[in-house]
Amino acid sequence: MNTIVLDHETDFDGWRHAARALVLDGIKPEDVTWTIKGEEELFGPTTTSSPPRPSNGTFNVPAKFVELAQIAILHRDRKRFALLYRLLWRLRHHHDLLEVATDPDVISVSAMAKAVRRDEHKMHAFVRFREIGREREAHYVAWFEPAHHIVELAAPFFARRFADMPWSILTPERCAHWDGFAISFTPGVSKAEAPASDRLEETWRRYYATIFNPARLKVKAMNTEMPKKYWRNLPEASLIKPLIAGAARASEAMIGKAPTEPHKAQQRLEQPMKRKTASELETLREEAASCRACPLWKDATQTVFGEGPPHATIMLVGEQPGDKEDLAGKPFVGPAGQMLDRALVEAGIDRNKVYVTNAVKHFKFVPRGKIRLHQKPSTPEIKACRPWYERERAAIKPVLVVAMGATAAQGVLGKITPINKNRGHLIDLDEQTKALVTVHPSYLLRLPDQDAKAREYARFVEDLKLAAAVLRKSARAA
Ligand code: URA
Repeated sequence: MNTIVLDHETDFDGWRHAARALVLDGIKPEDVTWTIKGEEELFGPTTTSSPPRPSNGTFNVPAKFVELAQIAILHRDRKRFALLYRLLWRLRHHHDLLEVATDPDVISVSAMAKAVRRDEHKMHAFVRFREIGREREAHYVAWFEPAHHIVELAAPFFARRFADMPWSILTPERCAHWDGFAISFTPGVSKAEAPASDRLEETWRRYYATIFNPARLKVKAMNTEMPKKYWRNLPEASLIKPLIAGAARASEAMIGKAPTEPHKAQQRLEQPMKRKTASELETLREEAASCRACPLWKDATQTVFGEGPPHATIMLVGEQPGDKEDLAGKPFVGPAGQMLDRALVEAGIDRNKVYVTNAVKHFKFVPRGKIRLHQKPSTPEIKACRPWYERERAAIKPVLVVAMGATAAQGVLGKITPINKNRGHLIDLDEQTKALVTVHPSYLLRLPDQDAKAREYARFVEDLKLAAAVLRKSARAA
């Protein structure tokens, strides 16, 4: 038996050198044990304990394997080193093995890589910094407990995102620090060393309470997106239970007031179809969460996917998530969203009945101190994201798509479409679907002149009234 002792949990280079030498020496996977320095005794006496000698031979593996292995090796499962070695061993004689989606080793390694990516994503979304020191001396410290060995993987995101503030992320295994110039790592610490609260806590709670919409609450989806194990480190966590409890009461009141129920037979006809589209959208949402089609994912907290009934008659398309949406993971919950909500009410449209999404699903920004300044997405970014919009539209089959602003118009119509020349009338997208182009609510927010703002807002509401008429007509036809 050969025992390979790696330097540490994420020693990919050590694994790679050893694995390469073992393969070239013809050592079968079942004749190798993998362990980590300091833990050898856990595995009991071994017959050999040797770093394999460098071998001169060579062999090629697909680049895809190296990418997959670099991520899967960060998984917490002890068996990962052996599993990766077995896959490598088999790849020598079966170069296309990774394409065999039903192969048990491929399935296991892919699932590990997926779990690691998900953990990384959760870390990006749920790290909350607490301020220690003030002003020039300020340092921001967060406590996080990753499920896998992802601190090194996740840290560059925080360096880009919070480039101007010195921070430390403390975890039980490894800590990451940023001084404004470089990232460094130190051994893990206990939770007692992390600050428990700070003066920003209340701001977080207020913000969370503001964006919480009881009418759109989906507890199951929320628990999937924000599993309970993360709650203990989130300042807003103390609000979640009372908000959910309040939402249930509000929903019951709404149900009590519901005017009519669809006819039972019609309900039966609609159910399987609805379930199909809903699950289609959920699958799309999951796929989009790991979209890497353009570089915007790198600095954004998360993909902000569309939201709304799976069979909405109207689909509203904005430009891209803003700062608030990026943090909340929901479209149009910030200032532009509030402006949109107001205009929808005035136009006679219930937001809960429309599907709301964006042409670009990651927040594009430049950091300026603690602020993230919105940047307009480029044409390649709009194009890279377009398949998500197309697939959302194909699943929902709306009667009308409302494109708000130039980016949305470009995403929806597939070409640059000037707003003023095209607004105010319906445009054919295909036989079943029309498009309506209008301004973006942020444009209204930015107008400095109050008269112009009022005038433009009224025009925006007029455009939405056209959409309301389509909604009414389609309800009559149904
Ligand atoms: N602006 C957008 O276009 N979309 C959002 O979700 C928020 C602001």
